[in-house]
Amino acid sequence: MVKLRLPKPGTIEINPSILSSDFAALANETTVIKQAGVKMVHLDIMDGHFVPNLTIGPPVVAKLRLHSNLFFDAHLMICEPRKYAPAFVKAGVNHITFHIEVEKRPAEFIKILHDMDITAGICINPETPVKAIEKVAPLCDMVLVMTVHSGFGGQKFIHYAAKKIHTVRKIVGPDIRVEVDGGIDVKTAPIVVGYGADTLVAGHAIFSKKDRIAAIKALRKACCG
Ligand code: DX5
Ligand code: ZN
Repeated sequence: MVKLRLPKPGTIEINPSILSSDFAALANETTVIKQAGVKMVHLDIMDGHFVPNLTIGPPVVAKLRLHSNLFFDAHLMICEPRKYAPAFVKAGVNHITFHIEVEKRPAEFIKILHDMDITAGICINPETPVKAIEKVAPLCDMVLVMTVHSGFGGQKFIHYAAKKIHTVRKIVGPDIRVEVDGGIDVKTAPIVVGYGADTLVAGHAIFSKKDRIAAIKALRKACCG
């Protein structure tokens, strides 16, 4: 398979989160969103410890890889990202985002991810200050700002958390992607793009709609005109 790369910065990407999709029809869900022109899909990985919810592990990702050539953006909401990262890479993810809240030596882990030939991302929860990632953010390929409390889809957008995007963008400049995750819909998408986000994760706003393609197009129109 051709190596999939994170889209180069400079474009706004809608990044559908499978959390609100039909997990019994994941292969089909990824096929449908690709028809809407998305380049990536956001895989929410939860362990029931870091967040009070459970989702999928490497075996499911590996099977999904056989059905999709989208860029797999794995958001690890797990206590031990270092322990499981190799299994997710083997399963076919192209990017791993881990939470600063569980990693004491983030720069070292970013290097480990790069050495596995994938791109790396760091994430901050709504209550975590940007200062916590100030030094390592420039080492990443994408920085993720949570705008809901990690763990569940369909929650209300937290505006004070979104304001941190502006600071993150100032720190990383134009050459690193800034991703936002939580409560993104046609109303909040233009707000976060205004703050400097270029990669918009959306679960409920896409997969709660019967017509996923129309929902993706509506999001794109809302933030890009
Ligand atoms: C929540 C996940 C999100 C979630 C977003 O912890 O990280 O990716 O799917 O869902 P929405 O877009 O529904 O807020
Ligand atoms: Zn996520």
